[in-house]
Amino acid sequence: MKNVLLFTTLVTVLFSCQETHFKEDVVMAGGIHVTSGTLNMGKSIYTESCMPCHGVKGDGAGVAAKGMRVPPRNFKLGIIKFGDVASGDLPHDASIEKSLRHGLKGTAMLPWDLKGQQMGAVIQYIKTFAPETWIGKDKTLGTQVVATKDPFGLAHRAAAIEKGKGVYHIVAQCQSCHQAYVTKSELNRLSMKISKESITDFDDDMYQSKPQDSEHGVMTLPPDFTWDSVRSASSVEELYLRIAVGVGGTGMPAWNDTITDEEIWAVSYYVRSLMDLKDTAERKAMMQRLAN
Ligand code: HEC
Ligand code: HEC
Repeated sequence: MKNVLLFTTLVTVLFSCQETHFKEDVVMAGGIHVTSGTLNMGKSIYTESCMPCHGVKGDGAGVAAKGMRVPPRNFKLGIIKFGDVASGDLPHDASIEKSLRHGLKGTAMLPWDLKGQQMGAVIQYIKTFAPETWIGKDKTLGTQVVATKDPFGLAHRAAAIEKGKGVYHIVAQCQSCHQAYVTKSELNRLSMKISKESITDFDDDMYQSKPQDSEHGVMTLPPDFTWDSVRSASSVEELYLRIAVGVGGTGMPAWNDTITDEEIWAVSYYVRSLMDLKDTAERKAMMQRLAN
């Protein structure tokens, strides 16, 4: 008898917990139909694995988040940084999945090996923190940007890097936020070559990264590619995508409607070559050259 009573109490407790769970299916942006069962699965994965950082309310204020230099994403804002569409548009699940599978290098966001339906379930669940952004039949996703054919290839890597150096410093002036990686005389040489103009005025902070405001409610720092981790990209092709579409909700713009496709490829090769300098004597020599 006692056992039966215990059993009924347990069932009642379980049942009342169930009440706070999802009972209805929803349609997410892009016409993705998600069942209540999937959302409940996502919620339990979230509670176990993600909540310590991303918080009970999904606001990024989890117990483990305190003091993190790069704070966990506040999902209530509904802004994804490393999407696959022009910033501002809603990204496809594949790009969110990529950040989960590979982690975001240099941050507390580690790779997650979620099996089977678990991955999709937790992705759909985190969208429920920003219902106005994600939930509704009428909501559409942006046009997915995919890498075009690499016009250089490994055989022309050196030429791509040289062209990319000019794109970086003269055509796009990435150093207006990031830092410059050439001496003043080389900047002048590049400028003469590309725009036939000499540079006489140099910005005092050209060798420093300039902190930027963001829509995430925190300042973001453009990385020094020879030192800081690039969070979402490692290969030239991944860099191409990131540079083409930008970083959502931050100062990092989408470049695919400002510079040509070939220029995006070239600057991707150049950024990759800067990343290769990390922890090398070559980097040390470069930094010394720039300081003089
Ligand atoms: C140890 C802390 C920690 C845990 C645990 C954690 N994250 Fe994160 N997560 C972060 C941080 C920090 C960032 C922000 C990185 C940035 O801004 O570049 C982040 C960012 C994200 C993003 C944003 C990606 C983008 O492009 O904007 C998603 C989605 C995400 N996490 C999902 C999850 C999920 C799902 C889980 C659980 C399976 C999880 N995280 C567990 C710390 C964590
Ligand atoms: C208006 C300011 C601004 C300009 C101009 C700018 N960036 Fe950025 N960039 C940023 C900021 C801010 C971040 C960091 C975003 C974050 O993760 O919080 C960033 C991040 C990046 C990243 C790293 C993305 C990752 O996955 O971590 C790459 C690569 C990058 N920028 C390349 C470029 C290139 C190449 C140019 C020039 C063609 C450029 N940026 C111009 C502000 C800028």
